[in-house]
Amino acid sequence: MYKFVSLRHVLLVSLAINVGLLWRFTNEGNGSDANVRRKTNVIRSSSFTTGLISVDEVQPQEFISLQVGDPTMYTRFWREMGNKTTVVLSGDQHLSYISNVKNLCWFLEPKLESAITRLHQLVGNAVVDDRHIVVGTGSSQLYHAALYALSSLDASEPMSVVAAAPYYSSYPSMTDLLKSGLHKWDGDAHKFNKTKPYIEVVTSPNNPDGFIRKPVVNHENGRVVHDLAYYWPQYTPISSPVDHELVMFTVSKATGHAGMRIGWALVKDEEVAKKMVKYIELNSIGVSKDSQLRATKILQAVIDSYDHTSIPEEGETLFEFGFNLMAERWKKLRTVVKQNPIFSLPNYSPGLCSFSGRTFEPQPAFAWLKCEGQIEDCESFLRSHKILTRGGEKFGVSTKHVRISMVDEDNTFDLFAERLSTIRQ
Ligand SMILES: Cc1ncc(COP(=O)(O)O)c(C=O)c1O
Repeated sequence: MYKFVSLRHVLLVSLAINVGLLWRFTNEGNGSDANVRRKTNVIRSSSFTTGLISVDEVQPQEFISLQVGDPTMYTRFWREMGNKTTVVLSGDQHLSYISNVKNLCWFLEPKLESAITRLHQLVGNAVVDDRHIVVGTGSSQLYHAALYALSSLDASEPMSVVAAAPYYSSYPSMTDLLKSGLHKWDGDAHKFNKTKPYIEVVTSPNNPDGFIRKPVVNHENGRVVHDLAYYWPQYTPISSPVDHELVMFTVSKATGHAGMRIGWALVKDEEVAKKMVKYIELNSIGVSKDSQLRATKILQAVIDSYDHTSIPEEGETLFEFGFNLMAERWKKLRTVVKQNPIFSLPNYSPGLCSFSGRTFEPQPAFAWLKCEGQIEDCESFLRSHKILTRGGEKFGVSTKHVRISMVDEDNTFDLFAERLSTIRQ
């Protein structure tokens, strides 16, 4: 029977598989940033051979996918740290659900709590005194927990949840995932003019455009959730420790360990913190202790690397490594964009970073690229050049913008910059 399978059949089958793969990658845009199902973001439209012919011969160019903020650029740093962050767990460890019965957040590992506190004290990006730390399975779980905790359980209608556009593309679908009676997505905070209670999500620096933000609605019956995933000194100058009602951080963007799924919230109000803990208790009966232990080791290594009086050498510490790599990439991207009138990037004002003592312009984890002139759909335009990005409409604004990850592997970023420089209208 195999004799009848011709070369043409094999080629057709392999092309069909590849079209399927491409469809999957190009349609991931509506999901969360963690919606990743590949090993590398340089997608060979045909990364396998049929045994008879390499399909690369049919479609030689590779797709570059920068749709997702997958922080793989940090791999090199952690690889160079070698065994300093290796964690070995034995079978008799972490059997219990409970970490500390005396803590309001009973599933928070005490060592992680102290590492988080020390990290914020070191960086100076958040007030930790008199705060309740709630650990979550990524800040994504904490987002759900925060909405649950801030919504009114006996309200006659769901509470409006808003964020100023352009907003993180996952907020609408996360908010409405369960079609909850507690809260519902109500769009752009700039357009919110109802007088009823609401929750505003403030992302600062903002995903997708990198600007520092403040609440825009400012009604007395509003509650604010601050998502500070990117308030770290490799991305933006640290101006002062934030002192808000409820702030969320994540290792995903701080150290690059998105796969560990650890985030934390610093919460002022005890009742709000208790409700968040209740949510996580009912949702997942706590947070993986294995991951918490590993996160502790990672955060400890970051803290220890600053634990000497001499000025750290370049590349020696996480934030130096991150800062230098982001600076290099932004310089390269700005040079390319400057030479190509089709595109433009936002301009940021420099600020003094209290952590590093440097004055620098923000160098966000995403580039918020605009297609100028006649190009109305920037995502499609770039896709036609085999660059996969996430279009502005998913962030509540026009299709003239796209969001591009700046935190991917070196070779993906380099290929992207090179290809962008060759694009002509
Ligand atoms: C603003 C913002 N918040 C939250 C998240 C999700 O973080 P985590 O991996 O901790 O769930 C992301 C991921 O890209 C993000 O950009």
